Amino acid sequence: MRKKIVAGNWKMNMTLPEGVALAKELNEQLTADKPNCEVVICTPFIHLATIAPMLNDEVIKLGAENCADKAKGAYTGEVSAEMVKSTGAQYVILGHSERRAYYGETAEILKEKVKLALANGLKVIFCVGEVLEEREAGKQNEVVSSQLAGSLFDLTAEEFANIVIAYEPVWAIGTGKTATADQAQEIHAFIRKEIAKQFGEEVAQNTTIQYGGSCKPTNAKELFAKPDVDGGLIGGAALKAADFKGIIDAWKE
Ligand code: PGA
Repeated sequence: MRKKIVAGNWKMNMTLPEGVALAKELNEQLTADKPNCEVVICTPFIHLATIAPMLNDEVIKLGAENCADKAKGAYTGEVSAEMVKSTGAQYVILGHSERRAYYGETAEILKEKVKLALANGLKVIFCVGEVLEEREAGKQNEVVSSQLAGSLFDLTAEEFANIVIAYEPVWAIGTGKTATADQAQEIHAFIRKEIAKQFGEEVAQNTTIQYGGSCKPTNAKELFAKPDVDGGLIGGAALKAADFKGIIDAWKE
């Protein structure tokens, strides 16, 4: 059975003391009231080494929001997958629409990042999703399919077992506009079919596909009730322990 995963994406928020306080609060709450899903917090690089030893690994895991497309060397300001892994982090988000749109990350660059992350033992939360004009033109399946094929479909099935997909319609990110549960289900089922075509039905059934984009405690339950929605990648609502916990609790009856 595939894992249900709720992951927080802090983006460029939280000073070190603020981040440490939030991680501590979440860790305490989840240790006291165990989640029914895997929980990951993905933080800015500077938080990783401090937060990693604070977390109860049984209830909360740690990830980065990005890593370099080069292994090591003279790349000023970059942080490698190996460096991320050495902090104790287990996950990395790659291909977030903000990285694609603001930092020019192409399918080719992401392919290199994915390879390096997997080679260094990180699990990858790989984001796909269409912009509003593409949705309005009915091109969402085409877009998502080419994002998957462009960066992930040269992996082996064994490598792909360490990939989590996050479907995030760009028009829903940080806008308060959520995809309906039916819209999410439709495209998640399509993504699973594409994975099945490439890697076989068993791999597809074992792949976690998260929804992301204005997911909140008030809409998480309806989204997670859909058969192909296996959790969420949470931005804004991951910055407050009560909201993030509310989404995690959507997996409880
Ligand atoms: P949001 O962001 O929950 O603030 O819409 C989600 C994301 O970008 O991962």
